[in-house]
Amino acid sequence: MTARLLPATPASIAEAAAVLRSGGLVGMPTETVYGLAGLATSDAAVAAIYAAKGRPAFNPLIAHFASAAEAAREGRFDSRAWRLARAFWPGPLTIVAPIIEGTRIGLLARAGLATLALRVPSHEVARALIEATGAPLAAPSANRSGRISPTRAEHVMSDLEGRIAIVLDAGPCARGLESTIVACLGGPARLLRPGAIPSEDLERALGEKLAASTSGEPAIAPGALASHYAPRANMRLDAREVSDGEAALDFGGALGKTATGLRLDLSPKGDLMEAAANLFAYLRELDATGAQTIAAAKIPELGLGVAINDRLRRAAAPR
Ligand code: TXA
Ligand code: MG
Repeated sequence: MTARLLPATPASIAEAAAVLRSGGLVGMPTETVYGLAGLATSDAAVAAIYAAKGRPAFNPLIAHFASAAEAAREGRFDSRAWRLARAFWPGPLTIVAPIIEGTRIGLLARAGLATLALRVPSHEVARALIEATGAPLAAPSANRSGRISPTRAEHVMSDLEGRIAIVLDAGPCARGLESTIVACLGGPARLLRPGAIPSEDLERALGEKLAASTSGEPAIAPGALASHYAPRANMRLDAREVSDGEAALDFGGALGKTATGLRLDLSPKGDLMEAAANLFAYLRELDATGAQTIAAAKIPELGLGVAINDRLRRAAAPR
């Protein structure tokens, strides 16, 4: 099946919704990254998502809804979940909550868990697509498993061409980093994956600290394992200078002029929002030069820098 790259318009959204209703897959723009969307209610559609990504089937998916009211029909929200939903939805926050008995979300999308990851995206095309489909959409990031997340429609085409029906093109993703994932399972909310909303903002909305995310316990966000987001090149983090032949991922001009390789600056003015939006596209572009190594400048470990550093460390993890 050859994927069709269609500019997102009311007509192409309606067409994509019809594909989804019949169990097909669509590349869906969101404010974070492009998603590979299929019916969350259909085990067959979710199986097709796993197959297209080449993703291990034990990895549960996020269900995307058009509104918090619809999300609350499938997941049981405690007071903390509601507080977060009110503060950040629609937007780049995913809430993990216990399922409601009789939920429409299929077992495969949940990977058999009694909890469910829910998100209401703010991207107008995503919400229009969910509404037109009339069902929640399961959507992992639209990359082949283990590869860099897609922030442009062309990234989706280059990873999944031949494996999906339609990619809706709505230009580059504004945030460029996946949603922050928080578990609300009774007791203090717990951060499962740093992402587009800094944890300080979550704590401000909650009026309390998040529970420390304990490493070492069985991964409940399996996608949050090492060696994710991997470019083909090796990554050298916290670089202060760049050697000949290395490609360079700069921040705030710290690396200066490089000798021979391509240098891309995530944000010449040192803005972490801008850096987040550019991160995955620049990693792909640097990787495409064929350099052996990508040298990355140090990113401050605060605000969005926490999630950026998380993705860089995964890109650098042994594989
Ligand atoms: O921004 C995003 O979140 C993007 C866009 C497309 O919405 N989606 C995304 O999905 O990043 P994905 O599949 O690449 O990452 C989802 C993460 C995985 O780490 C998965 O293990 C975790 O969510 N997850 C899903 N359901 C879970 C659950 N019930 N409990 C804990 N973690 C869960
Ligand atoms: Mg992903």
